[in-house]
Amino acid sequence: MFAVTAARIDPDDPLTGLELGEHPEPKVPDDGWTTVTVRATSLNHHDLWSLRGVGLKDEALPMVLGCDAAGVDEDGREVVVHSVIADPDRGGGDETRDPKRSLLSERYDGTFAERVAVPRRNLVPKPPALSFEQASCLPTAWLTAYRMLFTQAELRPGQTVLVQGAGGGVATAAVALAHAAGLRVWATSRDEAKRARAVELGAADAFETGARLPERVDAVVETVGEATWSHSLKSLKPGGIVVVAGATSGADPSADLRRVFFLQLRVAGSTMGTRDELDRLMRFCDATGVRPVVDTVLPLSQARDGFARMASGDLFGKVVFTP
Ligand SMILES: NC(=O)c1ccc[n+]([C@@H]2O[C@H](COP(=O)([O-])OP(=O)(O)OC[C@H]3O[C@@H](n4cnc5c(N)ncnc54)[C@H](OP(=O)(O)O)[C@@H]3O)[C@@H](O)[C@H]2O)c1
Repeated sequence: MFAVTAARIDPDDPLTGLELGEHPEPKVPDDGWTTVTVRATSLNHHDLWSLRGVGLKDEALPMVLGCDAAGVDEDGREVVVHSVIADPDRGGGDETRDPKRSLLSERYDGTFAERVAVPRRNLVPKPPALSFEQASCLPTAWLTAYRMLFTQAELRPGQTVLVQGAGGGVATAAVALAHAAGLRVWATSRDEAKRARAVELGAADAFETGARLPERVDAVVETVGEATWSHSLKSLKPGGIVVVAGATSGADPSADLRRVFFLQLRVAGSTMGTRDELDRLMRFCDATGVRPVVDTVLPLSQARDGFARMASGDLFGKVVFTP
């Protein structure tokens, strides 16, 4: 079958390790697994990190990349694949806290292929109102944003949330979901056109990266990292919370700890989400009419162009591939 794989790791020039071509059919490790025919899959920064060797080791290569998929299962049902593969013997609970968990494309082949093997438990029914392209955006970026806003920050309608780096996949999801949930959303971006698009998407206002806000906010959705961290802390009300799920611009920021303790700020890490949260996210999209923001749809055979767009930072929303 046709697949997009990481064949080599290069921390400085990640795209040189990308290979497109024939790959063996997926192996089903045991009875609890099944095969999904992929109808659409979407790109995440995780795929670029993998090519740089973050979370992917040389001995695992070649590895089919891709965390997200929407497709058809062996019984013909339309499904979305939850990408968090937890230890089946862990005895239940939140799978994102399982120390043995992995994402598709870390230990098991990922979704940038015609077919992917997954645990049956990881299949979630796709609402008919969502296209395969739209549904393929949900399992990583949108699920991460959903958990950041509603599980970690526990935001309520009427509160104010700041979303840093408005163009990213997680950030566009956070703006759209928070707006649909009745929150006042402020966004930042380095780019004027992206600020305008964030407002179209539901932000009440959008500001230049690092700009002083009209007032302090209840929570910050932070995926940019070093470049925005100090602004995130400065933007919070006393008792406010910054939820961090990524560090695209660098992972080692400085922080004024006096601000953290005097203002009793909270810092929460967040990673992906549970299968139940993915199910709720899809119901939320179904009920509200909110749909993922798709920047580009490309045939899987042109995946290299999508990776290059993400590496350049010139995106608003998600890049979707169709096998
Ligand atoms: N923990 C998890 O489960 C999880 C899940 C998904 C993603 N992530 C991580 O979250 C991060 C975001 O991923 P993504 O795919 O949503 O988006 P992304 O393509 O990494 O971009 C995020 C945004 O960061 C901003 N940015 C990048 N470099 C910057 C800089 N030097 N200064 C200021 N802003 C900068 C850009 O915003 P503007 O151009 O608008 O300024 C960009 O749109 C990644 O690091 C990813 O690995 C983590």
